[in-house]
Amino acid sequence: MAAIFTHIGPQALNRRLQRHLRAGSSDLAPGKLQLPADYYLDPEQWQREREYLFQRLPLLAGFSVELPAPGDYKALQLMDTSVLLIRGDDQRVRAFINSCQHRGGRLKDEGRGHCHKLVCPYHAWRYNRSGELISILDQEKFGELERRQHNLAPLACAEDAGLIFVSLGETVVLEEFLGGMLAELRELGLERWQLWDRRELSTGNWKLAHDGYLDGYHLASLHPHSVGSVVHNNVLLFDHWGPHQRMSFAQKELDRDRAPELPDAGTIIIRTVFPNVSISVARDWGGMISVLWPGASADQSRTEQYFLYAPATENEEYSEQVRAEIALYHNAVRAEDYSMVDKVQQNLAVGSPASVTFGRNELGNQRWHAWLKYYCEQSGEAPSIPTITAQ
Ligand code: FES
Repeated sequence: MAAIFTHIGPQALNRRLQRHLRAGSSDLAPGKLQLPADYYLDPEQWQREREYLFQRLPLLAGFSVELPAPGDYKALQLMDTSVLLIRGDDQRVRAFINSCQHRGGRLKDEGRGHCHKLVCPYHAWRYNRSGELISILDQEKFGELERRQHNLAPLACAEDAGLIFVSLGETVVLEEFLGGMLAELRELGLERWQLWDRRELSTGNWKLAHDGYLDGYHLASLHPHSVGSVVHNNVLLFDHWGPHQRMSFAQKELDRDRAPELPDAGTIIIRTVFPNVSISVARDWGGMISVLWPGASADQSRTEQYFLYAPATENEEYSEQVRAEIALYHNAVRAEDYSMVDKVQQNLAVGSPASVTFGRNELGNQRWHAWLKYYCEQSGEAPSIPTITAQ
């Protein structure tokens, strides 16, 4: 059986889940939340999300293991901006707009690679790994130029816990933004893992897709043959640090009264980093990290799936197990979750239902939407975040 079913969690989470199992309860919100269907369809709302979330907040742009050595780079699209990440000779990862400061040539095509210098393919201006312009082809014919004024345009960038965040807006202070979630992420040890695979999926509105990553209510019905067969449906813990959340699911092997034989067994944990990242990985094993992006219009989105696990060894059985788990994850999201999202999107577009309802048990969704509203309305008032009422 693939190791997706042996995710581990701390004993304290097990004890909390066991209390729920004995009481037949779960963490619950005080009430329900209704959102108009138009919230998933309206181009103006979609534009606000692009502007207030994706143009301002730190966004997950890559993983430390993608750029292990000085000169390693990754070019990617972050919303409308082509971004170039590169690790410098000082080991620091920097982010730049992927645009030569001569006449806007694209320095690197999307993807990863290694370079000694960054050489623009248009007229061969050269930049070092810190983004400084170091030479101009035929400068005597080009004319005098203040080179420092033509260094690459930097973007706010921070690396921690094996993750690389970039902001298209202001400076990234990850400790402030992630709060207690940063310690959770550091504990995973992602910087020691290997990127085994990266896949892409598309579906409807990005919020509709994201709702599925926060909802433990659907596991038994939509995923009866995978994760739904190994967890207690609808028995969850919801913890949060600001807008970032941790959901803990009780595995069926978790006995109501007895501590698991392996002290950490019994819990599957999914963490979300606001606004668009879901981390479904187990400490000392690995898993899937999903990054969701708005698409070209309100009814489209794109998801990047990154699969990180412990590095391959000569043990072919281990590699086969990892490959099987990757296929299982990818197919479950594609054929079950996103297939449903496509149908929901169609139904909402014809006004049925006119609003969607999140129950008390869909606490993670309620919190996420409260934070999304907070950021998009820019009212400056602290969001009204549902708290847990049942322990
Ligand atoms: Fe890059 Fe001219 S645009 S060298």
